[in-house]
Amino acid sequence: MKIILLALAGASLVAASTIAQAADTAAGKLAFQQHNCASCHGADAKTPISPAYPILAGQHADYIAHALHAYQRGQSGAPASANIRKNPIMGAMAMTLSNADIANIADWISGLPTPLSNDR
Ligand code: HEC
Repeated sequence: MKIILLALAGASLVAASTIAQAADTAAGKLAFQQHNCASCHGADAKTPISPAYPILAGQHADYIAHALHAYQRGQSGAPASANIRKNPIMGAMAMTLSNADIANIADWISGLPTPLSNDR
């Protein structure tokens, strides 16, 4: 009985780890390039083409991911709430991203050198 329980526990651990995959930093960098994010935010995500465009580099991954999902919700007509962001540019850009793209991009951005804080 113990052996069966251990086997079941092991199997569910394997299943859980395949579902909750770790973010892929290299894939995030690639997605940022392929989706033309750099054309506005800069290839290093900290030299935007206009001072009105935000610096992304070094921002917390969960903040970046939340922002991108909020733009998707805003663009897809979700009811107005504090949990959506409506922006014509970023709404359209965010709609091209998969959940994995968002997780990977957020992970890559969060590790970049940044002028946003002085601890990197
Ligand atoms: C055409 C220019 C343009 C492109 C291309 C673009 N962005 Fe943006 N981005 C903006 C602007 C402008 C804002 C500020 C929008 C607002 O006021 O909410 C912004 C905001 C953001 C934010 C929110 C930042 C914050 O501090 O809240 C994130 C995250 C972001 N962009 C990521 C991306 C990613 C990832 C891509 C590629 C898929 C991308 N952007 C492509 C112009 C652009």
